[in-house]
Amino acid sequence: MKTQERAWNDDWREWVTDKAHGFVLEIGAGDGVNLEYYHSDAQVIATEPDAESIELITDYQDNVTLAQVDAEDLPFPDESFDAVVGTLVFCTIPDAARALREVKRVLKPGGSLRLVEHVRAKNPVGRAFMQMANPAWHWMTGGCNINRDTLSAVHAAGFQVIGTRKKMIGLIIGIDARK
Ligand SMILES: C[S@@+](CC[C@H](N)C(=O)[O-])C[C@H]1O[C@@H](n2cnc3c(N)ncnc32)[C@H](O)[C@@H]1O
Repeated sequence: MKTQERAWNDDWREWVTDKAHGFVLEIGAGDGVNLEYYHSDAQVIATEPDAESIELITDYQDNVTLAQVDAEDLPFPDESFDAVVGTLVFCTIPDAARALREVKRVLKPGGSLRLVEHVRAKNPVGRAFMQMANPAWHWMTGGCNINRDTLSAVHAAGFQVIGTRKKMIGLIIGIDARK
């Protein structure tokens, strides 16, 4: 993730974890790059389906618990989290709509969802190119998609989008939403 890290270049990980207080769920935590940014009052369950990635998470605080879990099948009760966080994950989750339904189910009413995602281009030419290139991209990256419209998916799942922040002509988007 270090190369992508340089491209982000600013405070996105602080931003995405900033509202995460109380019981917090992170989905697709990868090798745990967000964990150092959580507030000390957050009780974080960091989930990630890939066993090899989880094994790389060795340096984390007492307020973090790890779980090998797919976002489409969250083994948590309804309305059990105050906040859900994800970075660069809805490009990869095979069934993004189902994962968002699960996120909504486990969030408490009014709970916070903050995501940072790369998304498809808004302009028709860029969008068509991404659509065309996606099968090769998906194969080369082992599952990432460059043609996702995660903001629309968040709306469609019934979240209230409070705000967004964008970078790289909107190809990277921060989504601030609540249930
Ligand atoms: C590009 S990495 C991002 C990792 C980390 N969030 C970050 O910002 O560095 C995408 C992550 O999504 C995870 N992922 C893939 N399928 C998933 C699923 N069904 N549910 C949750 N996470 C998934 C991958 O294992 C991988 O760790």
